[in-house]
Order: sequence, then structure tokens, then C-alpha cells
Amino acid sequence: MIATSVQNQIKQQVSQDATFARLYKYRQNQFFQRLEVYWDDVIRPLHHLYGHLDNFELWLADTITRIGRAYAERPADLHQLDEKRLLQPDWFQKSTMLGYVAYTERFAGSLSGVADKIAYLNELGVTYLHLMPLLQPRHGANDGGYAVMDYRQVNSRLGSMADLAHLATELRHNNISLCIDLVCNHTAKEHEWANKARAGDTTYQDYYLMFPDRTLPDAYEENLREIFPDFKPGNFTYYDDLQKWVWTTFNEYQWDLNYHNPAVFTEMVEIMLYLANQGVEILRLDAVAFMWKRLGTNCENQPEAHLILQAFRALCRLAAPGLLLKAEAIVSPPDLVPYLGRGVAANKECHIAYHNVLMVMLWSCLAERKAVLATKALQNMPPIPGGTSWVTYARCHDDIGWAITEEDAAQVGLDGYAHRAFLSDFYTGRFEGTFAAGTTFQFNPKNNDRRVNGSLASLAGLETAVANANWSEVELAIRRILLLHNLIFAYGGIPLIYMGDEIGLLNDHSYLDDPDLAEDSRWIHRPFMDWDKAAERHDTQTITGRIYTNLCQLVAARQRTKVLHAETAVYPIWANNDHVFALLRDNPRGRLLILANVTENHQTVSRHRLHELGFTGLLINRLTEQPINMWQDLTLEPYQVIWLQQAP
Ligand code: GLC
Repeated sequence: MIATSVQNQIKQQVSQDATFARLYKYRQNQFFQRLEVYWDDVIRPLHHLYGHLDNFELWLADTITRIGRAYAERPADLHQLDEKRLLQPDWFQKSTMLGYVAYTERFAGSLSGVADKIAYLNELGVTYLHLMPLLQPRHGANDGGYAVMDYRQVNSRLGSMADLAHLATELRHNNISLCIDLVCNHTAKEHEWANKARAGDTTYQDYYLMFPDRTLPDAYEENLREIFPDFKPGNFTYYDDLQKWVWTTFNEYQWDLNYHNPAVFTEMVEIMLYLANQGVEILRLDAVAFMWKRLGTNCENQPEAHLILQAFRALCRLAAPGLLLKAEAIVSPPDLVPYLGRGVAANKECHIAYHNVLMVMLWSCLAERKAVLATKALQNMPPIPGGTSWVTYARCHDDIGWAITEEDAAQVGLDGYAHRAFLSDFYTGRFEGTFAAGTTFQFNPKNNDRRVNGSLASLAGLETAVANANWSEVELAIRRILLLHNLIFAYGGIPLIYMGDEIGLLNDHSYLDDPDLAEDSRWIHRPFMDWDKAAERHDTQTITGRIYTNLCQLVAARQRTKVLHAETAVYPIWANNDHVFALLRDNPRGRLLILANVTENHQTVSRHRLHELGFTGLLINRLTEQPINMWQDLTLEPYQVIWLQQAP
């Protein structure tokens, strides 16, 4: 391990940095105090990753000096924000948190347009706004902005970096934290580093993973998945000018970065702090599962990918302790929780992570009209570390991949393969009698994997019901939409409303007219905001109004139900009715029983079961604040959800 004398040398080097040296002494001391407190968290992952390199200590000192500079450059109001966050570390775990996710252009035209929509967001109760990739992407096709050419520029179609900083401040004054994407696994092949690599600069060739022939790519391929088999077969692309194969997990124009090279790590952490210094409060770290490659493995979820995230966290903490890191790791259930840290790294990795398993299970419940698999699979997941939180969602901008393990399925008597195939068929309209109107994404004939696209409302049945003018089906679809939102609100974590879902927007086929988008059917559920429809949102005679006003009531119920704080453990439990999904939220804040009927029929939960779970005496449904009669069995209407709590 690294001696304390090294720590002292590093402090010296930091103090000599011209920018840092200009700080008041007390500010300098604050940085050094953090360095002391977080020293072990900084050194442990970095030593594992790069400690074997000859120049490790030099590199470490240089990297920490750069962090010191970013600290020195952090604007005063953001230092103040850091203080506030340190005083209230559970700020993002509170039941008042509500996320909203939107494409800047499709929601409001530009960054300044977003500022004009703050009133709309406030009305909904939003406290966290994720604006989809907005850093300068390559021109032409760019995977929805996930092929970044310049991390220090905003997409010129949306505004400038100054506009972003201005928007972040304005949002913060309205109690909304800004989240943006940081695509840290790959760059566009037009990024400056890639250009230099192509021009023959070996320093920059080492920023990527390049191979002179097929020997290693073939060896790696034996265990790799294909992420976008329709767009591009395999994980490597050959470039004639380079005469090399380049690692390209996603599209051909997205080059994977080489984190075996510590220079890449340092560049990325500097970019993170640069963005944090613009006022970004949450960084969504894209595709983190792929950040480390190891021959003989599928190169996903490698221990080193976790160490990189832990090192990001520790270093960001030195300069911008208020910054939150969010893991975008859409992986199978056993691989997910570790992104929030485990063992010595518990709550020392990402603060928040997408709960893709919950998302999948909710759709599975609705298709099957049964909650058995969801209950078991979620029970099988370990608890998350204290101080961290899920990000819960029912739909996002990506396709749905059925993250269901063979083991979980087998435990409830299902065949994993067959169940995944059933869900794909159900949600792409291939299953007789389905309510869903989704489409297939990236069908892979090699393993029969069929992922699903479609807007939340269309997948929940609204599109088909409206097309058939079948009003009882419309009613059921609205209830499904509300049930999905209800459960992401109640499960624990920051729930995300995906733009347009609050007003039930359907599939949008207009992407087919844009040659840069037409190939990628995920655009079917990335619509333009329909502000005319939104104008109907208060009219409960309309479908829009039914969805929106009920959603607002849900938001209000969540805000006042403090036991929904993310620190309150969640236990999926058996309601003794396969068609009812039951969650127990339990900690000293209180106990809440969430019961969700996942079918279009009435369902009953026996009062004995409720008594067994400790729910006796006077009970209240927190959603309506109405008392519940406990002397009879509890009947749930089609798709009804109840939040049961004992009256104080
Ligand atoms: C993430 C994004 C997805 C993108 C991929 C590659 O999974 O959510 O939209 O295609 O990363 O950047």
C-alpha cells in the first residue's frame, strides 16, 4: 500500500498548482481534509487498477493535482451546495424526490426552452430532471447522442455550455437537480482522441482497444454478447487507414475506451468534475458494465469496472462531494446490486442505479396476470447498502430486454427461455389476445432473443383500445398505466416519469422519416412532446386528464408518505393470492403494505393474511387517506393498488 509520506508529497504537489495556490488557506485546508478522510477510498481501487504500473505514484500525484484544480475552479454557489448535501446526505432518498426524463429538443426545443417549462415540471412535483445526451455528438447517426465527439461542448443544436450552466442554476432555484449523461465507456470515432489515434499517434491509439489482426478479437468474441446485432455484427470493426481492428461494442462509430490505460481514467474523471462545475448534480454513467475487458469472460460486470466506479466516486468526493453518480448497468439480477457497492465498497460506488429488474418484473406481472415470478425474483436480490437508492422506472428511452434468470424462473416453476419468449411475443403483438402494441428490437436468431420497443401507454394497451374504440379496454389501459407508476413510486428509490407518459403518449412512427433515425426503432417511444394534448391535462373528461390528474394524486400521496424514504427496506412478500403483488416497506419510520392487483378481475387478500403480517386494528389506505375495514377480506378492484398503514 501507499505510505503516508506519499500523501504528503501529493499535498505538496497540489499546493504548488497555480490555480489551487490562489485559494484562501481555509479552502485549501478543506480539500486536504477531504483527502485525508477519503484517502483509503481513493487509494484502494486505484492501487488495484494501476498500482502495478512503474509510474503509478507520479500518475497518482498528477491525477490528484488535477482534482485539486477542479476543486479550485468550482464556483462558490456549488461549494455551498456541497455543504448542503453533506449536511443532508439523504436528500435524494426522500419520498419527495421525483424524476422526469426528456430529450431537450423533443421536450422544449433547446436548453433555454427547458427553462420555460420549469412551471410544468413544478406542477408535476419534479425534483430531478434527466436531460438525455446533450454533449456534442458526432454528426449524422449518433445513437441518440451516445456517440460523443466533445465532452466539453453542448450539442450546438441545443445551446452552449453557458446555457447549460445557466439552466442548471435556474432549475436548482426551483428545487430541481439536473442530471445528464456521461458516456464513459466509449467516444464517437470522431472524438479528438480518436482523430489523433487515426493519424497514427500511438499515445491516443492506447486510449482505445486496437488489434493488428483477428487473433485477439476472435479469442474475445468467443464469450461476448452482440448488443446491436442488426446494426453491426460482432464487437470489433476493421479500419483500412489504421489497418487495425477497433473494439466497438455498440455501433461501429462508438469506440470503446481502454481503461487499462490510466490516462483514460484521469481524462474521464476530469470531465466529470468539469460537468459538475457547470452545476450538473447527477451524472448518469452510461454502459458502465462494459468498461473493463478480460479475455475468457463476457467482458461485462468485471471487478475492475466496479473499481473504476469506486475510484470515480472517491475522487469526485474530493472536489464536488454533492455530485451523485448513477449507474446505467442494465444487467441480470445477480449483477445489479454490486453497482451500489458491496463489502468494503458498500455505498462507495454509485449512489443510485437503475432497477431494470423491477421494470422487467412489472411488465411480466401484467402479461402473465401473476405476481409470483416478480415476488420470487425480487426476494432473491440482496438488499442495497444504506445511503444508496434505486432509480425506479417503468419505461425509458431504450428497448426492454428480459432480465430474467433461469434460476429465478425455475424456482416458480417457469422455464426462463419460454417465459422470456412469451413476454417478447406478448409485447410485440404476436400473442393472441394481447393488449400491447410494441415492436421487436434486434431479434437475434442465434439465441432467439427478441427485445421490445413501445411507449408505456402503447405497451399497456391504450393504443389498441383507442384504435378499437373499446372504452372498457381504455379504462383498463389507464389503470395499467397508473399501476405501473404506482409501483415505481412505492418500491423505494427515485421514480422516473419518462416524458410523455404523464399524458399517455402513444408510439410515434415519425422517426421513419429521418434517415439518421429510421434504422433504430427505439425512436418509436421517444416522441416529441405533444403540448396540445398536455393542455388537456386538467380535463378529467379526457384520457389525458384521467392519466395526468391521477398521477398528480399519486405524486402527492408519495410526498406525504414519509415511510417511502429510500432507506426503508422493501420486502416482496406473498399475499397468498398469486395475482396480487405485495411489498412490505418496513423500518423505524413505519410499516407500509403495498398490495397491487395485477389483473383485470377483482382479487381478494384474506384478512387473516393481513393479520399475520401485523396489519390489524384501524388501517388506512395512504393513497386515499380512507380507513379500511379490517373485519372482512380485502377486495382489490381491477389493477387497484392500496398502500396500507396502521393508523397511529
Ligand atoms: C446505453 C444507452 C443506450 C445506448 C448505449 C450505448 O445503454 O441507454 O441508449 O445505445 O448505452 O451508448
